[in-house]
Amino acid sequence: MIRDAQGFSLLPDHLDRDGQQAMVELVAALAADAPFTRYVMPRTGRPFSIDMTNAGSQGWIADRQSYRYSALHPGTGRPWPAIPPVLLELWRGLTGYPHDPECCLINHYQGEGAKLSLHRDEDEQAKDAPILNISLGDTAIFRLGGPGRKDPTRSFAVTSGTVMVFAGPSRMFYHGVDRLRVGSSRLLPGGGRLNLTLRRVTRP
Ligand code: SIN
Ligand code: FE2
Repeated sequence: MIRDAQGFSLLPDHLDRDGQQAMVELVAALAADAPFTRYVMPRTGRPFSIDMTNAGSQGWIADRQSYRYSALHPGTGRPWPAIPPVLLELWRGLTGYPHDPECCLINHYQGEGAKLSLHRDEDEQAKDAPILNISLGDTAIFRLGGPGRKDPTRSFAVTSGTVMVFAGPSRMFYHGVDRLRVGSSRLLPGGGRLNLTLRRVTRP
């Protein structure tokens, strides 16, 4: 696996078509238990342009109060479903981190307006643990910057089956999704893109 000097790895086609299909089915099963939710942003109350759900002992949520991790789905009040073994195996094989992830955040992007503004993943205590990012469905135009909000950024296309690992310094780099290439993939029955990010939340 090629890691750049900043600890970032981009692995196009890491999942083959069958692997991608299986993961889409896994997400559908998870979402039947923990439905996708359109969160609002703290303070402004403005809705995100994407839907989210989680698997794991910790799920990332947002509401008027804050961005945070919660053991319970805010809508159902139930714990999130467990992270499926195939995802744990991917994490163990690619991150080299000696502890399992606690959160699999699942983002669903659909249509022209779906995006995720430039941000850093800051709500985890275990900031030494890498973040593993899986893309399924429509190609995303991904933006990656540096440790500072004003640092220069580059953008590149991320296709279905791509896995990215943000380790080392890149773990704390600003990143986001500018937009989708809508209709570029037929993997998802309703179109769009699924993104799964595996995160270690608490310090082991
Ligand atoms: C994220 O930053 O949480 C997700 C990025 C992506 O959709 O690839
Ligand atoms: Fe992020």
